[in-house]
Amino acid sequence: MTTIRDVAARAGVSVATVSRVLNGSGYVGKDTEIRVKKAIQELNYRPNTVARSLANRKTGTIAVILPDIMNPFFSELARAVEDTARDGGFTVIFCNSDDLGTREQHYIEVLRQKYIDGIIFASNSMGEDDIVYMNENRIPIVVLDRAPGKSGCTVIRSQNAAGAVMAVRHLMETGCRKIAHIAGPGELITAQERLRGYRKAVKGFTWFDESLIVPGHFSIRGGERAVSGLLERHPDVDGIFAGNDLMAIGALKALQRMGRKIPRDISLCGFDGVEMSEWTEPELTTIAQPIYEMGRKAATHLIARIRGKAVKEDILELDVRLVERNSTRRRKN
Ligand code: RIB
Repeated sequence: MTTIRDVAARAGVSVATVSRVLNGSGYVGKDTEIRVKKAIQELNYRPNTVARSLANRKTGTIAVILPDIMNPFFSELARAVEDTARDGGFTVIFCNSDDLGTREQHYIEVLRQKYIDGIIFASNSMGEDDIVYMNENRIPIVVLDRAPGKSGCTVIRSQNAAGAVMAVRHLMETGCRKIAHIAGPGELITAQERLRGYRKAVKGFTWFDESLIVPGHFSIRGGERAVSGLLERHPDVDGIFAGNDLMAIGALKALQRMGRKIPRDISLCGFDGVEMSEWTEPELTTIAQPIYEMGRKAATHLIARIRGKAVKEDILELDVRLVERNSTRRRKN
């Protein structure tokens, strides 16, 4: 985000001089004024006074920037945000970023101009400087699910690593002797944490090998493609933990096409607890995130901040739970 300091540096003047040019107050030489205005234009700088007016103008509208509205996790999250926002008298605008930082930055720019009252981000590309800018310009935000390392705002997410440990231990308790992991995209903090949980749960087992971790890109197609290579290398795998339900669903299809019986030959556990996981055959065992609660909390918190209520900025990690269904064997009693 361009700041007044960037404009001053580009024009070779002080911040105070830029401020005088912006406000048309005090003396500024003609040449200096030209240099400052040229820098503002080149840097596409939006003076804080405009951003401040955003914070002061209320339009009753909030925006939600999601990485993939086609993924049922995010559409279920969006449903919760909209229900809560509507009950609070707010309209919601949804923006789909495809996890592209450039598209998210574009949305931030557009949303700033549309006097949005606040923004909920489920974003991996949002950096600390974006959060600083939002805070500096008093544009209320809440980050959902995928949060940059240090966040100067409220973050609402699930206990990803603990949920992964839960999944692997469940597979072990049902008799699995060699468990693989289909991992989400390495750049996403949620995928990193679930992989960390998987590694923690399999640590010390002699059967573990790095080649038991295969990428699945958080997609159905990715889960489907991951399985064939995995079973060629490890035909004796009898348990798979997939880092989200979509990859688990893709893996299920590939396993069944390869003639494997689920759970007799291979047990399968997903992560998310999206409604679709109830409709596979067999129904998918999964680690359910409190999706609706995450969306409800995010909207409630954002509306409180928009209304000027003193709310503690915090990182809220919500519990996940094992939902046992028929894609894993019954526990040995
Ligand atoms: O399924 C999409 C995944 O991306 C979910 O697990 C959610 O936690 C997000 O990180």
